[in-house]
Amino acid sequence: MKEVKVALIGYGGIARSHSAGYNALQAEGEPIRLVAACDINPDQFARKVAINTGADKGKLPENIHTYTNIEDLIASEDFDMADICLPSYLHSEYAVKLLKAGKHVLSEKPMALNTEQCDAMLQAAQEANRKLMIGQCLRFNACYLYLKDCVDSGKYGTLRHLFMERLSAQPRWGFEHWFENTEKSGGCILDMHIHDVDYARFILGEPKAVSCISLDGDVRWQIENTRMYYDNKLVVINGSWDEAATCKFQAGFRARFEKATVISDCKTVTVYPDEGEPFTGELIHSNHHITEEIRAFVHELLAGKIQSDVNPPESARASVHIIKKLRESAAHNGEIVSL
Ligand SMILES: NC(=O)c1ccc[n+]([C@@H]2O[C@H](COP(=O)([O-])OP(=O)(O)OC[C@H]3O[C@@H](n4cnc5c(N)ncnc54)[C@H](O)[C@@H]3O)[C@@H](O)[C@H]2O)c1
Repeated sequence: MKEVKVALIGYGGIARSHSAGYNALQAEGEPIRLVAACDINPDQFARKVAINTGADKGKLPENIHTYTNIEDLIASEDFDMADICLPSYLHSEYAVKLLKAGKHVLSEKPMALNTEQCDAMLQAAQEANRKLMIGQCLRFNACYLYLKDCVDSGKYGTLRHLFMERLSAQPRWGFEHWFENTEKSGGCILDMHIHDVDYARFILGEPKAVSCISLDGDVRWQIENTRMYYDNKLVVINGSWDEAATCKFQAGFRARFEKATVISDCKTVTVYPDEGEPFTGELIHSNHHITEEIRAFVHELLAGKIQSDVNPPESARASVHIIKKLRESAAHNGEIVSL
């Protein structure tokens, strides 16, 4: 395979960031081409959709083929890789279908609604010998990679505690209001909080135990405060889908090392050393993390790597499992649950 031909499945909110990613990568000369898009609602191909008070960034290439159902796409289109941007309750069913059809699959997070659905995806990928990766995009975000490097290099000593947050208004742009239906989205805890839970596991490994307090609003599992316990370190994460509708999406971290505090608002990183002046961290790229996630997928695919080193699907499944443990803890008023 010299060039990876991609079909985008679902052209709603986040798919706009994916199509912007394909445009950027193609402009850079990466061997990748978006050839088709599939959405049950054909109006989506022309509509503007803005998520989290942000602007719609996506524009489908003009010569692209569009479909309104997956069977027609699979039967008629020549493509190597499917990029699934469907509501979360469809991830497993569609990933399995596409893997069985011999396609490599990049699918948005969360991997699925529960570990049983994740297992069906893993089994289909293994049986078809096709690549499966889940869009845990913080693993490709330059600010979060900066922090990972601080942890790995030990340049500021050991990490002592890490505070993270990810806060937004209740998403209301989704297909048939699926975000507001906890049976379909899993609520904030599974949909958005999972980003930070997955990232903590990415840089620190598996916690010894977790605990969580959660509040319901007009949607279940809408506000979370999570603690992940490691030897001599504490990770605390706040998540909310309960901010004012006029509030901008906000995310970031504050990491205390033995010799410095490192703070990010998800756009820049500032290092505050115990000795010397604060300074702005130099980031390894200035691209959107979804662009870099797609690049990583395609580079691994072209190198013949079916199994990802950076973002294996088994690890995305483990994050779904931890969310289940957080729910168990929250059901018992924040009791500490050992893993
Ligand atoms: N990585 C991130 O930061 C991030 C951000 C937002 C959303 N997401 C994830 O991306 C996924 C999609 O979220 P969204 O905000 O784009 O949702 P959305 O509702 O805006 O988009 C989903 C699209 O799928 C289409 N669709 C529904 N059923 C279909 C079917 N059977 N066949 C074909 N098309 C169908 C809808 O018409 C819609 O256009 C979710 O899993 C969500 O959790 C990730």
